[in-house]
Amino acid sequence: MLPPGPRVPSLWQLVEFTRRPLPWLEDCARRHGDPFTVRLPGYAPFVFVAAPALIKAVFTGDDDVLHAGKANVVLEPLVGKHSVLLLDGAPHLRERRLLSPPLRGERMHAYAGLIADVAAAEVARMPRDRPFALHDHMQAITMDVILRAVFGVDEGAPMRELRQLLLDVLRPPPALLAFLPVKYVDVPGSPFRAFLRRRATVARALHRMIAARRAAPAAPRADILSLLLGARDDAGRPMTDDELCDELLTMLVAGHETTATGLSWAVACLLEHPATLVRLRDELATVTDPAGYAGLDYLDAVVRETLRVRPIVPDVVRQLQRPMRFAGHDLPAGVYLTPCIHLAHRRADVYAEPAAFRPERFLGVKPDPYAWLPFGGGIRRCLGMAFALYEMKLVLGVVLSRLRLELAAPGPVRVTRRTVTLAPAGGTRVRIV
Ligand code: HEM
Repeated sequence: MLPPGPRVPSLWQLVEFTRRPLPWLEDCARRHGDPFTVRLPGYAPFVFVAAPALIKAVFTGDDDVLHAGKANVVLEPLVGKHSVLLLDGAPHLRERRLLSPPLRGERMHAYAGLIADVAAAEVARMPRDRPFALHDHMQAITMDVILRAVFGVDEGAPMRELRQLLLDVLRPPPALLAFLPVKYVDVPGSPFRAFLRRRATVARALHRMIAARRAAPAAPRADILSLLLGARDDAGRPMTDDELCDELLTMLVAGHETTATGLSWAVACLLEHPATLVRLRDELATVTDPAGYAGLDYLDAVVRETLRVRPIVPDVVRQLQRPMRFAGHDLPAGVYLTPCIHLAHRRADVYAEPAAFRPERFLGVKPDPYAWLPFGGGIRRCLGMAFALYEMKLVLGVVLSRLRLELAAPGPVRVTRRTVTLAPAGGTRVRIV
C-alpha cells in the first residue's frame, strides 16, 4: 500500500504543484504525514519524504534500485543522451568520475579573477536611473562565467555568437507543459522541430570548438573543457566529442539558471533583512582581493541560509527499479521516491523558527546532509555544488560591495515557478540608491 495523499484528480494535483508548489506541499505534509503520495497525470506515483532519517535511507539506498537518470529523461532532447543526468548504474559512475576532478572545491580559486571580472562588468551595465529585474543581470553573469570557466571561450565575437546560440536553445517551455509527459512531435513547422534545429546548431558549434581545442593544445589552460579533454576513465579511454558536447550542455542547463536564481534570492532575502545586510557589508569590507570573499564565514552562512529558505528546486527524484519496503510501506517498482528539499528545510525539529531567514544558524555548524539538501544527495549530489557556492559568494561580494540596492516594491518577494526552478517573482526588482 502506498502512503496516503491527496484524493483530488491527478490533473488538479498537477495544477497545484505547478501554481503554488510550496504551500501545497506543506498542506500535503500536514494532512497526510511523512511520507505522502502525490499523483501527476501520466506518471507513476511520487512518494514524498522529508524526515532526515527517511532522506538518508533514499540517499544511501541501493543504486541498482534507486535510479535518477530515468526520472530525468524529459531533458534528453536538450542535454543529449550521453549526459550524466540521464545515466544510471556503472555508466553514471564512470561519467561522474570523469567530470568530478575539475569541479572539486580546491580548484575553484583558479576562477576567482574571472568571476570577479564578469560580476564587476555586469554591475557597470545595471541601470542607474530606474528599477530593474536583478535576475536578468545574474543570468548574464552566470552565463558568462560558464562560457569562460567551463567552455573556456574568451571575450570577443565567438563568445557573443556562442552565447546567443545557447540562449536560443535554453528558451524554457511554459511551466505546466514541462511536467506533462507529452510526446514531442517532430513534424515540419512544429515548435519541437524548430528546437531540434537550434539544438543541432549549438551541437555543431560545440563540436567545432572541441575539435579546435584538440588540434591546438595551447599553453596549459584552467577551463573545465580543457581538463576534461585530458581526462581518462578506469580503462584509460578519453571522453568522445559527443560526450563532451552533451556534458558541456548539461553543465550549462544544470548550472546557469540555478545559480542565477540562488543569487537573485540571496539579494532578495538580504534586502528584506537590513540588519543582516549591514552585518554582511561589515564583513565584506574586511576583504580587499575578491578571492577573499570565498573565505568569509558570514557570507558563507548567508548563502547556505538562502538556499535553505529558498531552495532552487523543491525536490529530487529516484525511480524504483524493483519493489521496495520503505518506511513501513511496500512500494511497487516504478514509484518515484522523492526527497522533498523544501519540506526538509522547514522542519521545526531541525531548524528553530524554520521560516525565518537567519544566517547565524549556520555559523560554526556543518550542515547535516540529510536536513540541508539544496544540491540533492548521495551519488547524485550536484556535481557543481562547490562551483555554485564559490560563484555565489564571489558575485555577492562584488555586487554588494559596489552597490547600494533596495527592493523596487516592499517585500517579501513572492516565489514563482520557472519550469523546474522556484524563482523570485519579477526577478527580484530592485533599484540602485
Ligand atoms: C545554486 C546552484 C545549483 C543548484 C541549487 C543545483 C542543484 C542540483 C540538484 C538538486 C541536483 C540533483 C541532485 C540529486 O538528484 O540528488 C543537481 C545535479 C547536478 N548539477 Fe547542480 N545545482 C546548481 C549548480 C550547478 C552547477 C554550477 C553545475 C555545473 C557547473 C551543476 C551541475 C550539475 C550536474 C552535472 C548534476 C547531475 C549530477 C548527477 O546526476 O550525478 N549544478 N544540481
